[in-house]
Amino acid sequence: NWTPDAFVETTVEELKKEIGDEKVILGLSGGVDSSVAAMLLHKAIGDHLYCIFVNNGLLRKNEFESVLDQYKHMGLNVKGVDASARFLGALKGESDPEGKRKIIGRVFIEVFDDESHKVENAKWLAQGTIYPDRIESVSASGGPSAVIKSHHNVGGLPDYMKLKVVEPLKMLFKDEVRRVGASMDMPAEILGRHPFPGPGLGIRILGDITPEKVAILQEVDAIFVDGLKKWGLYDKVWQAGAMLLPVDSVGVMGDERTYEKCVALRAVESTDGMTADWVNLPYEFLQKTSNDIINKVKGVNRVVYDISSKPPATIEWE
Ligand code: XMP
Repeated sequence: NWTPDAFVETTVEELKKEIGDEKVILGLSGGVDSSVAAMLLHKAIGDHLYCIFVNNGLLRKNEFESVLDQYKHMGLNVKGVDASARFLGALKGESDPEGKRKIIGRVFIEVFDDESHKVENAKWLAQGTIYPDRIESVSASGGPSAVIKSHHNVGGLPDYMKLKVVEPLKMLFKDEVRRVGASMDMPAEILGRHPFPGPGLGIRILGDITPEKVAILQEVDAIFVDGLKKWGLYDKVWQAGAMLLPVDSVGVMGDERTYEKCVALRAVESTDGMTADWVNLPYEFLQKTSNDIINKVKGVNRVVYDISSKPPATIEWE
């Protein structure tokens, strides 16, 4: 009879035995899986766990700072690495979705490899792989291993991929991971977080990425997601976010016609991301959100809501 408490107890014991006093590196993403894996290892080996949390410049508004703060409160030995400029520089001028994914994956590997070399004598790479990750090819987690899966062709393995691998969650399903996290008193905000793709806002800005576009989308996304939380809708939705469309649509300001950006909001219900239905959000909520976005975010004059289900439409637009 599986219980989260017993799982924590036996896993922590096993990790202690397996790892001893060797050093472990783990890439935190802000997501549930990597965070729970980190917490289990932290219980087992304390500061011999070296967590690395990379800001690729494509995270949600304030996400890097606030998540880093939460990790520190949880007692994790975590280093935040702000590599935004490196990612955005490498992405300049690239508008092909797979091209953008490849660049983000490659730069992540470079940054993570640089950082892991700074941990002297590390012997292990820990990953938040869960059971479904091992069967499905599409992973929403986007951690170091997920990146590797879709980017074999980067020219030789980075050094951190040569470490011994430890995956404490590899037998668990998502709901079990959440229960394990809860039994270790992890913050509900981390355990209940929506899935977020590894390439982040990079695949929600259709076409090429500029720092200005990232800033606009971060504002729009924050108004939408904070609104979902305020209205008690966040936990009823599996994933939500906004897309910045490569369309300047006409608007009117006084006597002038303006051409400004159009954003699409998307909220879906799903169990695993393989199929998804769009969520019937209340009209009052959509009305308020649209007004807030248009009034507060300079450069946006039109908001649309995506009412397509998967299949055939995917969750992301790219
Ligand atoms: P789609 O758009 O394929 O998305 O319906 C299904 C789930 O996967 C996430 N997703 C990604 N996650 N790297 C990731 O780590 C990616 O390139 C990627 N593309 C989509 C998406 O957010 C959804 O949860």
